Amino acid sequence: MTRGNQSHITEFLLLGLTSDPKQQVWLFASFLVMYLVNVGGNSVIIAAIRGDVRLHTPMYFFLSNLSFVDICFTNVIVPRMLANMQSKSKKVPFIQCLTQMYFFVACAITDSFLLAAMALDRYVAICHPLHYTTTMNPRRCLQLVTASWLVSHLHSLTHTVLMARLSFCGPNIIHHFFCDVQPLLMLSCSDTSVNELLAFTEGSFVIMSPFIFIIVSYVYITRAVLRVPSGRGRYKVFSTCRSHLTVVALYYGTAISVYIRPSSTYSVMKDRVVTVIYTVVIPMLNPFIYSLRNRDMKQALRKLARRKEQNKH
Ligand SMILES: *[C@@H]1O[C@H](CO)[C@@H](O)[C@H](O)[C@H]1NC(C)=O
Repeated sequence: MTRGNQSHITEFLLLGLTSDPKQQVWLFASFLVMYLVNVGGNSVIIAAIRGDVRLHTPMYFFLSNLSFVDICFTNVIVPRMLANMQSKSKKVPFIQCLTQMYFFVACAITDSFLLAAMALDRYVAICHPLHYTTTMNPRRCLQLVTASWLVSHLHSLTHTVLMARLSFCGPNIIHHFFCDVQPLLMLSCSDTSVNELLAFTEGSFVIMSPFIFIIVSYVYITRAVLRVPSGRGRYKVFSTCRSHLTVVALYYGTAISVYIRPSSTYSVMKDRVVTVIYTVVIPMLNPFIYSLRNRDMKQALRKLARRKEQNKH
């Protein structure tokens, strides 16, 4: 494939998680199940929120958007990964690799901005309850959602265009299960300093700003909750944040451990496992985190199930 420096690589080999055929079967089955649970669970959440007017609130609209992004996210990663496990050659054309990277980055960033929008919603609901309906009006919510998409896609586009300009002259083996930014950068034979610089500056900014926003919101929320006199009241106020906080902790716990640090310390081998959690497991868990122990969500799910039942008869 590499006939001197002139010839450029037109495809990559995605080696996936393992080359052991026994593990391969087991991994294929588990990823297929996780994929189905992910798409199924998130679709049910969207349908349940659609079908119950009591859940037509900013919080649940954001949650429904989050489920939608999670479905996109998993569709970017898992089908390709499963197909690759079955294929002998493991080849991925360069353009497909770039497309996957584009949507992966866009979805991941949209997720984080939606989590920030949810934090804003909780902040206004708890710290400024009297202004809640005017501040979080439908128009504002739509603006927040649109802005999340726009920023993420612009960010992703920038990085994809910069990646497309690089030359790849071999080797073309990626020890990963999808085309992530760092493993691709490591294979390039061009000067990647602009990419690295942008990833470290603009990239860190885009990833960290929703995170910092969420932390600051929760500092204010915690202060407001501590002022509530009774323990029971405090618990009640805080319980509306519990699911959101769980998702935020999981999302940023894994994202920061892989993506926010100098690329010199990046290890494809070790970071793959965390990336599996980040790209496959967490999007699958979101629906469960939000529906277990959440009374409104459970009622909406029951309503959805009843409607399905009636349709059958
Ligand atoms: C996303 O949020 C907007 C604004 O709240 C809402 O109108 C829309 O229905 C949501 N989309 C999905 C797929 O839930």
